[in-house]
Amino acid sequence: MNNTLTLIVDQIINETHDAISILLHEKDNRDLSFQPGQFLTFIFDADGIETRRGYSIWTTPDELPQVGVAIKKFKDGVTAKYLLNNLKVGDSITSLPPLGNFTVAPEIKNERTFVMFGAGSGITPLMSHLQTILKYEPESKVILFYGNHDEDSIIFYDKLNSLQKEYSDRFFIEHSLSKPKNDWKGLRGRIDRNKTIELLEKYKTQFIGQVEYYLCGPEEMMQTVMNVLKVKNVDRKNIHREIYTTKVLDETDEIEEKEREVTIILNGERHKVLVMPGETILEKALAQGLEIPNSCQFGNCSTCKAKLLSGKLKLVEQTALTEEDIKQGFCLTCVGYPASDNVVILYEDLF
Ligand code: FES
Repeated sequence: MNNTLTLIVDQIINETHDAISILLHEKDNRDLSFQPGQFLTFIFDADGIETRRGYSIWTTPDELPQVGVAIKKFKDGVTAKYLLNNLKVGDSITSLPPLGNFTVAPEIKNERTFVMFGAGSGITPLMSHLQTILKYEPESKVILFYGNHDEDSIIFYDKLNSLQKEYSDRFFIEHSLSKPKNDWKGLRGRIDRNKTIELLEKYKTQFIGQVEYYLCGPEEMMQTVMNVLKVKNVDRKNIHREIYTTKVLDETDEIEEKEREVTIILNGERHKVLVMPGETILEKALAQGLEIPNSCQFGNCSTCKAKLLSGKLKLVEQTALTEEDIKQGFCLTCVGYPASDNVVILYEDLF
């Protein structure tokens, strides 16, 4: 693969109990230029299986040649667990060049408002956006609504506070915690419909110029915010969103952690694979020698698209399928975790 980069780990920072930041540089000074909001695709060997995952960059282009990504240990993210447990300073990581369309392009003359809704590790690309805007659009404002579980799970808490001090007249943050300690003075609860309405109302006097909305976090939060913005007649072109975390197919929210037998129909033959907790269907199928088409391995290219004939599946971090695809029963096995016992997957068009 000649378009890959070799990234060397310069520093590993423990951001929270279950999230780290990694600062990296390109070993041979190859081009790593990116737009704020883009991500890197790491390619590595996890127990003998080539695995690819996208991680958003939180640093800004002016910090090149160093870039930073943040990694949160999702309950069912085998790759994140692997990285969190094994990575050391000086290690090298193979990566694709930066990709993604969830970007901002700052212009010094602009005078506008960025309203950002983030939750959990959804802060990562927003961090790159907001730092860039604050620095390179001196007349623009940024308002960040940031949801987390508790005080200890807020990624970039100190960095955000010092940015707020530095840009106190142009940068506003409201943290909202779903399970805070008793002495928490900020907002409580998830970013739901009422809170979204309340926050938009509270900050509307700060709005100047064109208002751009940036959303990154769980699908449920983004959908809630989208619905409120729709009622407020916000033009869809001013709403930017990154599908970043769990996308749930069917009504299942939590996957019971157990191994499950999955049937894969490939070239007319039925294959049964036993998928362990934390493993994707594609990972297990490849490990068992099934020649399933795949490319990005993080839900972005749709090469591994298949039909879900029965059972329930949880899709994590997928961006390739449309709502219509999902309604028609399509799924992506590279980010698909079986959520019931009778999952049957059909590959229709091979190569
Ligand atoms: S391999 Fe790219 S979406 Fe699954």
